[in-house]
Amino acid sequence: MQTLMVYSEAGGVKKTTTAVSVAMIAAEGHEGRAADPDKGLFAIAPVAPRRVVLIDLDPRAATTKWTRTEPAEAWQHVGAILGEKDDATGWAEDLAVQSSWNANLRVIPAARDLSNRESERDDYAELRLKQALSGLEADLVVIDCANRQGGPLTLSALHASEAVLYAATASDSGVDGVTGAQRTVEAYRRHMAALGAASGIEEAGVAVTRDGTGFLSFSETDAIEQIRELAPVIEPIVPHLSIVPEVRMAGEWYGGYRKGQAVRDAYAAIVGKVIR
Ligand SMILES: Nc1ncnc2c1ncn2[C@@H]1O[C@H](COP(=O)(O)OP(=O)(O)OP(=O)(O)O)[C@@H](O)[C@H]1O
Ligand SMILES: [Mg+2]
Repeated sequence: MQTLMVYSEAGGVKKTTTAVSVAMIAAEGHEGRAADPDKGLFAIAPVAPRRVVLIDLDPRAATTKWTRTEPAEAWQHVGAILGEKDDATGWAEDLAVQSSWNANLRVIPAARDLSNRESERDDYAELRLKQALSGLEADLVVIDCANRQGGPLTLSALHASEAVLYAATASDSGVDGVTGAQRTVEAYRRHMAALGAASGIEEAGVAVTRDGTGFLSFSETDAIEQIRELAPVIEPIVPHLSIVPEVRMAGEWYGGYRKGQAVRDAYAAIVGKVIR
């Protein structure tokens, strides 16, 4: 099982879109295609369908709302894992809700009161998410992180994940968000090393999305260059398409629409590079 956290310390830099897209494309699979520069097509490696669990670790619950995930009981969300005082082992399997989008996709929802867990500060609470994932019947776990500078939610994700995929827009806040996130990952690694515990967390790279359309502006190019200096940008840059927010409002997957294919193709190429 591979566990990936999607993280940035800036808001609105496409963390949720990246997490949902990676999870859904891994669940659906992709037949792949060869590059065709004449037609402006980049290569997409084939993606075999995986059993995926998408975890919403943001109290604002954007992934939960987008995927219209509703647990049978209101308490059955990721906060139940972080608040488990006894033994969280195996909890994720019980809380994962089947998605109507794809048979291979399950979602562990978030709820507003997840933010209470941030202030409780129980001993070892940040290890519970990792514990909860043991025995989970999945090939891939994707965690949509909250817009936080470190803190208990981020620490939980860091302990549970083997790789961090940064999300960024081609803008100043995209750059700032990755800069801050990298600082947090570095501090985590240093603390683990000081404890003599190996933290295997790796940087998968940065998924960059444009907010502009047409030719890249100077400021976009500049931001992308700055991001490249921080961590590898996983090509291609995801284009901006208005259908993405439109279908999200309706609780739908943009990849099901012809107009959404350019964004789906970009994320499919990214999935081909990031998922084992
Ligand atoms: N490729 C795209 N084209 C157009 N709009 C997009 C694209 N990707 C994401 N968006 C829109 O941009 C907005 C912000 O994206 P998203 O919610 O993924 O960011 P976020 O980093 O998760 O934000 P937050 O910090 O609030 O968690 C959303 O309205 C989303 O639908
Ligand atoms: Mg989000």
